[in-house]
Amino acid sequence: MSPIYLTTPIYYVNDKPHIGHAYTSLATDVLARWHRLAGREVYFLTGTDEHGQKVEKAAQDAGEEPQAFTDRVSQAFRDLTHTMGFSNDGFIRTTEKRHYDACQALWKRLQERGQIYLGAYEGWYAVRDEAFYGPDELTERDGVKYAPSGAPVEWVREPSYFFKLSEWADKLLEYYEINPDFIAPASRRNEVISFIKSGLSDLSISRTSFRWGVPVPGDDAHVMYVWLDALTNYITAMGYPDEKAELWKFWPADVHFVGKDILRFHAIYWPAFLMAAELPPPKRVFAHGWWTNEGQKISKSLGNVIDPLALVEEFGLDPVRYFLLREVPFGQDGDFARGALVNRLNGELADVLGNLANRTLSLIQRNCEGKLPALSAPIEAEGALLTPLATITETVGKLLEVQQYHLALEEIFALVRGANGYITVQAPWALKKTDPVRMAAVLRHLHTALRAYATVLQPFMPGSMAALLDQLGVPEESRSLAALATPLPEGHALPAPSPLFRKVENAG
Ligand code: MSP
Repeated sequence: MSPIYLTTPIYYVNDKPHIGHAYTSLATDVLARWHRLAGREVYFLTGTDEHGQKVEKAAQDAGEEPQAFTDRVSQAFRDLTHTMGFSNDGFIRTTEKRHYDACQALWKRLQERGQIYLGAYEGWYAVRDEAFYGPDELTERDGVKYAPSGAPVEWVREPSYFFKLSEWADKLLEYYEINPDFIAPASRRNEVISFIKSGLSDLSISRTSFRWGVPVPGDDAHVMYVWLDALTNYITAMGYPDEKAELWKFWPADVHFVGKDILRFHAIYWPAFLMAAELPPPKRVFAHGWWTNEGQKISKSLGNVIDPLALVEEFGLDPVRYFLLREVPFGQDGDFARGALVNRLNGELADVLGNLANRTLSLIQRNCEGKLPALSAPIEAEGALLTPLATITETVGKLLEVQQYHLALEEIFALVRGANGYITVQAPWALKKTDPVRMAAVLRHLHTALRAYATVLQPFMPGSMAALLDQLGVPEESRSLAALATPLPEGHALPAPSPLFRKVENAG
């Protein structure tokens, strides 16, 4: 099985982390954990994007030197990975020496292949997006011009190196054609294709009006355009330019996770740079949607930025992880509403999954002396409970392979609901006196089902599913997808159960 390489965008260190950052990394984390459970070798990379005018300006506003400023803010992003339970294997900062080396090596390679020329850039630039825009993309209000993202643009005129992007239009279109899954979701693919078809100009890839960036090799008056610098992180971390490095086997990336706002950079510029450098392009770029807050666009000026740390503090980590991936189809925009989170936590995690676990495990504790009952042959009543378990890893795996997290959770929870129906109908609590053998059989079937649910839910809710697997008596080494095929021995002692999820009041 080939190794899997998954990445998040590297985050600008102009401000503290918010829900958007947590969201992209969470999606990456769940897939990384899933592949590990499936026995794949995985590298999950995240990091911070520390150069460019926007970060330089934020440092100035804070009255700090850019390096000291980025050291401080970058730490907040490293802390976020711990708070959110991310399992990243690496964390890259673009101010590291290895990254300067990689950027300069890539530049030289592009130059050697005749892909870079010196000219002068004249046009519109949005510092907030660190992006160039054509005049026809802009709108004007009160004498100020704005990019489609809402960022104000300014007129820039300076000497600049250019990358011959215009030469790559056909090759890019061909790459999308041959690799129909390269851009996801499919609707975004059409957007990218029409952008290319409307005509690609060469891309300005250096700036001279500020200093906070990677110097252009051989011409110190220029620093590299921050997006060329930033995108290169994905190969820096794999050891580039040393293609014999141990991690190089992970390249090309399996999925670059990004928000829809930065798809153009990942689906057009990045593969074009790589093809021009004769390096393999990534296999897939998934662009997710944006969150609003109670129906409103999230913005610093509106003061409605959602702090992931505050959410985790209030609701606990796993309910937040579950909510973010359950509430909104991955790829679409979605709204963050406190009441919706509370409903998912109370109504699904606590009442459906938590309750099933609690009812089953308390009965085993009370009626079976806390010992796992023996396996017995299923009867017809068990069909709906047990049959889907045979294919649960396959079903969930297929959905995760295409990043349909909400559907994977829907499938699993439909089964958990079914299991609640089963326990209600079988009423094992009533069987103790009338048919203890049947009672033990029912409880063991429920245990089997719970183990399967907990196993496949681990990537989504690592902490609470580890607790559930502990309560189910599943040893650490038996928590992989493959281990599900091997039943636990009867008589295995189970610890006393305790509630998995804490309900919260639906007000606030
Ligand atoms: N530094 C660049 C990425 C370089 S990757 C080579 C960057 N950084 S960012 O910090 O501005 O944005 C990071 C991510 O946060 C993007 O994927 C963006 O889509 C996401 N989000 C920002 N606001 C968001 C929401 N309101 N909702 C969901 N995601 C959002 O861009």
